[in-house]
Amino acid sequence: MQIEFVEKSQLFCLHTGHTTMLLQAADGHLGMAYYGPSVTAQDAVSLLETKECAFTPTVMPRELANYRNAYPHAYPGYGCGDYREAALRVTAANGASAVCPLYQNYRIYDGKPELSGLPHSFGSDCRTLEITLADEPLSLTVTLRYTLFADSDVIAQSVRIDNHGTAPLMLDRAMSACLTLAGQYDMITLNGEWARERHVQRVPLHTGRQSVGSICGISSHFHNPFFALCEPETTETQGRVYGLCFVYSGNFEAVTDVDNNGSVRALMGLHPETFRWELQPDEGFQTPEVLLTCTAGGLGAMSRCYHDFMRRHLIRSPWLYRERPVLINNWEATYFDFNAEKILALADAAADCGMDLLVMDDGWFGRRNSDDSSLGDWFVHTEKLPDGIAPLGEAIRKKGLRFGIWFEPEMISPDSMLFQAHPDWAVQIPGRPLTLSRAQCVLDMTRPEIRDYLFARMCSIIREGGISYVKWDMNRRITEAFSPTLPPHRQGEFFHRYMLGVYDLMERLLEAFPDLLLEGCAGGGGRFDAGMLYYCPQIWTSDDTDAAERVKIQYGTSLCYPPSAMGAHVSASPNHTVARNSDFAARAHTALAGTFGYELDITKLSEDERAQIRAQIADYRRFSPLVREGDCYRLTNPFEDGDFAAWMFAAKDGSEILITCMQIMCRPHMPYRFLRLQGLIPDASYTDTQTGEHFSGSLLMQAGLRVPKLWGDSRSCLIHLKKD
Ligand code: DGJ
Repeated sequence: MQIEFVEKSQLFCLHTGHTTMLLQAADGHLGMAYYGPSVTAQDAVSLLETKECAFTPTVMPRELANYRNAYPHAYPGYGCGDYREAALRVTAANGASAVCPLYQNYRIYDGKPELSGLPHSFGSDCRTLEITLADEPLSLTVTLRYTLFADSDVIAQSVRIDNHGTAPLMLDRAMSACLTLAGQYDMITLNGEWARERHVQRVPLHTGRQSVGSICGISSHFHNPFFALCEPETTETQGRVYGLCFVYSGNFEAVTDVDNNGSVRALMGLHPETFRWELQPDEGFQTPEVLLTCTAGGLGAMSRCYHDFMRRHLIRSPWLYRERPVLINNWEATYFDFNAEKILALADAAADCGMDLLVMDDGWFGRRNSDDSSLGDWFVHTEKLPDGIAPLGEAIRKKGLRFGIWFEPEMISPDSMLFQAHPDWAVQIPGRPLTLSRAQCVLDMTRPEIRDYLFARMCSIIREGGISYVKWDMNRRITEAFSPTLPPHRQGEFFHRYMLGVYDLMERLLEAFPDLLLEGCAGGGGRFDAGMLYYCPQIWTSDDTDAAERVKIQYGTSLCYPPSAMGAHVSASPNHTVARNSDFAARAHTALAGTFGYELDITKLSEDERAQIRAQIADYRRFSPLVREGDCYRLTNPFEDGDFAAWMFAAKDGSEILITCMQIMCRPHMPYRFLRLQGLIPDASYTDTQTGEHFSGSLLMQAGLRVPKLWGDSRSCLIHLKKD
């Protein structure tokens, strides 16, 4: 990791272990001369050529507009010649909307400042480059901040915009990162719906704009705040890839703009459609950060880079490297139909099977017997739990289990005591009907008094119940965005202030209960993003727990996020979402590639099935360190081959490998499959711990490992290799 400034060529060279980003302050503008695999600075001299040449835009004043429209701006403004997608748009007090940030100065220092109120990466061995640009007519500065980490190829970028003038300015757009790349690329995005989150889509970039984003208040099931640009020939194991991952959980836009000369601009940031922010004199605005990365090693290398980075520099929880408790969640076991007896019966069965934690899901509060009521009334449901939460927690702990609970803090049911007392706490536009979703409304998380109420109620339940795990759910998208506490011209701040409010409450909760295991959730995986990972070391990946569906969902999620953060449970067969039957082992093997738990009525299982659970938990205890701390390799792509899937986890020191093979659909006359393993030491020898067979690393990587015949649909096996 090194940041240098070459005075003569005004070149900033940012070197991570395997990549270089070159930024050059040419002719007053700051340009991105290069970003990609490592180069030395001398290579860069001609990259931002500005001398005159026939029909090429030059810096001559008479051609400044054309020059600006071709220049690879590191942070492009709007209205001064550049007609491509802008990173920054500002409206001045007189209504004018031009802004052109020009290079001023720089600062290089050790460490990385905190982004107060926002989730952000951190590290002890890192260095930061701050480049300040200024728009003098607006008295506005833009500070671009790039942090490099000694042990990673990720560069964290964020932006601060300050108003030094005497009049207010309106920020209409403040993206967090902008890349300019030469060449042709495919755009990879993660898209979906409830129960079908983060399916991978790869499409070639074409001239003009392509974008995905969210305007519904959460990062969403529809699109994920991550995208990759890869060269068309890039595969899982080779080729150049760029990743842009937004450390944020609300509205975002990921956008590319290819101009008519083939130059690619890629931006990530707060979605401009739902963002306007007033900057008073002497006020500043800090954008959330983007984690940039580049590799020549294909999609697998990009993913492993992100996984390591998030584990080392983003997820703060003390649970990060601890064995996560094997949990039983009562949701698919009982839905709303439970009481203390049923919960204790589940706890008995869970203890008998060797589980660690019982999670009481939705339905334990207010008068909540269906999803029609009570959100916001975070008081124990006295009919279901007549003795209260404290004795229940005690009884569960006596059985040797920890106690976890479900909250949906951001919500309010119109049929609730809270709504009766504070109808104005629900997000709504005066005079406009409330648009319900799952019969519920969203609380105005921008308001401190509402967060105070939630904090007090949550703390009281957590303390009384002796709770050590909280599942923080969020089951609807925001409509009629508006807060009565904001003046009319500041309503564009609502969505970002909402997210700041959610982060604030999470932060307060974790400060009050530092050892709390917080699992994020949003109607399944509607808020699986790097912002949430700062608070939650695990996030519920999807309500779809069918093995075959999960293979795709977990594959897509793993493109950016570590499997050790993916909530994964074994549920009933036939599956409650798709009614598919699948083998018990296949469901367990899929869940082993994430955090591990059960979500079915285990009181009804036979002794033989309980014995299978005990064996599955033993597998989890044995193999979970590989998932939690090791390297993940995707060996097949379920979006290309829907019949068979395989993935592997390898210990960082190469001593152990776990391979999971899953036959999703059995076909007649299937040829034997050979799985080419990855990341092994070619001349090392590996032993299959079940069969005792020996293989060389080179054989396993070049010829491949023969997959045992699997008979039937949704059948799977684990193969465990140890280095001799
Ligand atoms: C959605 C979650 O994804 C489920 O696991 C469950 O907690 C329900 N909400 C409860 O309402």
